[in-house]
Amino acid sequence: MTVAIIGGTSGIGLACAHLWRERGKQVAIFGRSEERLNSALAGLGSGAMGSRVDASDPSKLDETLSRVQDLQVLVISVGAGAGAGTLDQLGFDGLKKGFEQKVLPVWNSVQCGRKHLAMSGAMVILGAARAHHAAGDGVGLAAVHGAIASMIPSLAKAMAPIRVNLVAPGVTDTPPWNGLGDEKKQAVFDHFAKQAPLERVGQPEEIAQAIVSIASNTFTTGQVLRVDGGLSL
Ligand SMILES: NC(=O)c1ccc[n+]([C@@H]2O[C@H](COP(=O)([O-])OP(=O)(O)OC[C@H]3O[C@@H](n4cnc5c(N)ncnc54)[C@H](OP(=O)(O)O)[C@@H]3O)[C@@H](O)[C@H]2O)c1
Repeated sequence: MTVAIIGGTSGIGLACAHLWRERGKQVAIFGRSEERLNSALAGLGSGAMGSRVDASDPSKLDETLSRVQDLQVLVISVGAGAGAGTLDQLGFDGLKKGFEQKVLPVWNSVQCGRKHLAMSGAMVILGAARAHHAAGDGVGLAAVHGAIASMIPSLAKAMAPIRVNLVAPGVTDTPPWNGLGDEKKQAVFDHFAKQAPLERVGQPEEIAQAIVSIASNTFTTGQVLRVDGGLSL
């Protein structure tokens, strides 16, 4: 059995790859950057393979997934931060970019993945708590992630018996946040931690655990699992 992770070269996707390797599964990871791919593969060691692919290119993605043997689970973990910003920061082009970087690659991944997944297999798509959590500075993220979340029940019906579920993380400490610098990153994390009953942000390993669990459950489909410390309550 192989688990393929589009967006498996960093953050939550990479944490999933490590967890599945610990459980003895073969993993195939995909992303655009060669540097990130090589570093992730070096960390995973034997039992892991991968290649560069941009999920915005459906024909390349289809060819890439066709080379994965015995594909039982497909995780789609692309598009971090797409659509972020306040209404003042996010004009038409910003929102369009959000859809281009998240909704369209997810759509391509679903369309290609369904052709290659085993009928007994499972697809897990990464969404975000922002689709389920009203916040004045998150309208674009809500639009982008809401588009994906609302597809899930229909996808589950369209793709059965393949199971399709969405995991919606809250703020999680992954590499894209490092771009803010230590001080600003801590301020953002404190801001979100204060709003969540569990009073902290998540770790990629905690989101990975939920992804592995929902992918393994053979009687769950069409669900949105929020893994956000209660942020969206
Ligand atoms: N971290 C958070 O706070 C948070 C919160 C809510 C939801 N999420 C969701 O969780 C998922 C993972 O986020 P993360 O924080 O783990 O981000 P990350 O560390 O940046 O991981 C994203 C992965 O996707 C790959 N990727 C991005 N666009 C791609 C494309 N077009 N084709 C192929 N690969 C692509 C990236 O590699 P390359 O850039 O090299 O392609 C990387 O491997 C995202 O869907 C995000 O929306 C994250």
